[in-house]
Amino acid sequence: MVLSTGYSKVKTAVFISGTGSNLKSLIKFSKNNKSPITIELIFSNNAKAKGLNYSKIYNIKKKVLNFRNKNLSENKLLSILKINNIEMICLAGFMKILSKNFIKRFKGKILNIHPSLLPKYKGLNTHERALNNKEKYSGCTVHFVNSQLDSGKIILQKKIKISKNETITSLAKKILVQEHKLYPKAIIKVFNL
Ligand code: GRF
Repeated sequence: MVLSTGYSKVKTAVFISGTGSNLKSLIKFSKNNKSPITIELIFSNNAKAKGLNYSKIYNIKKKVLNFRNKNLSENKLLSILKINNIEMICLAGFMKILSKNFIKRFKGKILNIHPSLLPKYKGLNTHERALNNKEKYSGCTVHFVNSQLDSGKIILQKKIKISKNETITSLAKKILVQEHKLYPKAIIKVFNL
């Protein structure tokens, strides 16, 4: 990825809809010297997202737009991103699908984390589907976002073994721990490409 800001860190926004545990791990990572990014903005479509609390804890700007009118919300969001000089977007449990037009404006600069070994199990209920299909392995993937759901170029994956008595909850927990490690690694990889 080309840094338009020369040697300074790339101003990044993280989009969330829920708990924000990946957001937390990205914030921690961004404070490390090795991080090529700083997190300047937390955005959510959900005013009740728990993860919005990290705005106060870490003193990071937050914005909420409900996405009921997607076009309007996306246009507002684009101007918020512009005002804040945001260059990169990390989706972390963001439950809305961004339009082609929005993605075009940040072409190659939007990343997402997904709790499966893509291209397997795109979309929702990944753990349940993996277990129902008696998969031996699952994992998580960080990928670039394109206009099709969970389909952009893969940056990094982590594979984990599914245990004998695995449940949806235990698998989700196990994979989430790996997600927190994988996302920062993927960001480093993107900047070294
Ligand atoms: C993660 O499993 C992520 O892969 C998926 O949604 C979940 C978000 O968790 N897209 P959190 O909000 O980061 O805790």
